[in-house]
Formats: sequence, structure tokens, C-alpha cells
Amino acid sequence: ANSLPVYSREEVTKHCSIEKGIWVTYKGGVYDITDFVAIHPGGDKILLAAGKSLEPFWALYAVHEQEHVLEILSEYQVGVL
Ligand code: HEM
Repeated sequence: ANSLPVYSREEVTKHCSIEKGIWVTYKGGVYDITDFVAIHPGGDKILLAAGKSLEPFWALYAVHEQEHVLEILSEYQVGVL
């Protein structure tokens, strides 16, 4: 089993800028997407979720309901909530 570090919601919230890193959460996973922001097909909209949960945003943009999107996300996992 993998043993990724556990982060609090408060810690994730602090990572909401390019300087501090851009972190998001999804279903209990914590992701550092700093390096993905510039290559996101949906552009700067991704920054709306900086330091937050992806779920409410992905509920609005159903384009993310695809296996390959979750594969991309999984590459950036740095921890769990
Ligand atoms: C499109 C990934 C977060 C808005 C896409 C696509 C990918 C992607 C792979 C292209 C899908 C396709 O056409 O097959 C991600 C990942 C995210 C993320 C990995 C988080 C780590 C967000 C957020 C928003 C957003 C938070 C909005 C607040 C959009 C929009 C498009 C898009 C509007 C459609 C762009 C277009 O086709 O013109 N995203 N996304 N994304 N994303 Fe995201």
C-alpha cells in the first residue's frame, strides 16, 4: 500500500498561488497541480479551484467526466486528506 502524507484542509487552502504552489483536492486525494495549470485545456479557469475541492467545479464542467482526465489528475497526487 502507498503511504502518502496526510494534509489538513487548512494546509491545502494555503496552496493557492504559483509561488506557494497550486493544490486541489478530489475525493480525499490532495494534488499539486502547479505544473499542470499552464497546460490545462480549459485555461485559467482552473485557478478558481486553487486551494479547494474540484468537485463543485467539475459538476459544472462535465467535460471532466472522462477516464483520461482522472489519469492526468492522478499524476499530480502528493497526499491524502
Ligand atoms: C477542459 C483537465 C480543472 C474548466 C479540460 C480538459 C482536461 C482538463 C483534460 C480537456 C477535456 C477534453 O476535451 O477531453 C483538468 C484537470 C483539472 C481541471 C486535471 C484539475 C486538476 C478545471 C477547473 C475548471 C475547468 C477547476 C473550472 C473552474 C475546464 C473547461 C474546459 C476544460 C471550461 C473545456 C475547455 C474547452 O474545451 O474549451 N480540463 N481540468 N477545469 N476544463 Fe479542466
